[in-house]
Amino acid sequence: MPGRQEAVALLEEWVGNKGLRKHMYAVEAAVRYYAPLRGGDEDIWGLAGLLHDLDWEKHPEEHPLTAVAQLREEGYPEEVLHAILAHRADFTGVEPESELDKVLIACDELSGFVYATCLVRPNGIDDMKPKSVTKKLKDKTFAAGVSRDEVQKGVDLIGLERVEHIQNIINALRTVADQLQIRGEDLQS
Ligand SMILES: [Fe+2]
Ligand SMILES: [Fe+2]
Repeated sequence: MPGRQEAVALLEEWVGNKGLRKHMYAVEAAVRYYAPLRGGDEDIWGLAGLLHDLDWEKHPEEHPLTAVAQLREEGYPEEVLHAILAHRADFTGVEPESELDKVLIACDELSGFVYATCLVRPNGIDDMKPKSVTKKLKDKTFAAGVSRDEVQKGVDLIGLERVEHIQNIINALRTVADQLQIRGEDLQS
């Protein structure tokens, strides 16, 4: 099975956009964070997060079918492929079934939203609490592209209170804060 190093090389080959790369690293961190909480294998779950939007830039109209075909050829586990297919269930017809499928969906929209919230705070992620994020979710003009319904659907899928899920995402993004440049020191310079 290909490991993280191969996956990162693939990501860097397929994805040029820095924002999209950061999104994929953020979702990787979030899904990895959930693995031990939900009985998953961190390394396998991490691959699903890292690669879920692999073809979004090159083949948006086929996303994620092109990516899954490529990953299947390279020997990535079916568990990872299923999760990637299920994160666009409306398009692929593959419904979320496994814990990984559900966690990936729940982390996808909310990681982006928490990231966006970091960028408008002087201290970024450093002193962020779930309340900072909840407030922004209520502000419909903020990150208007993020569907609040989708965020809620994801939360319902993993059966947590929204506030708990937000806290988990914050904890997870802290583990990659340097890479995402979301600390106060990154944002103030
Ligand atoms: Fe996607
Ligand atoms: Fe995504």
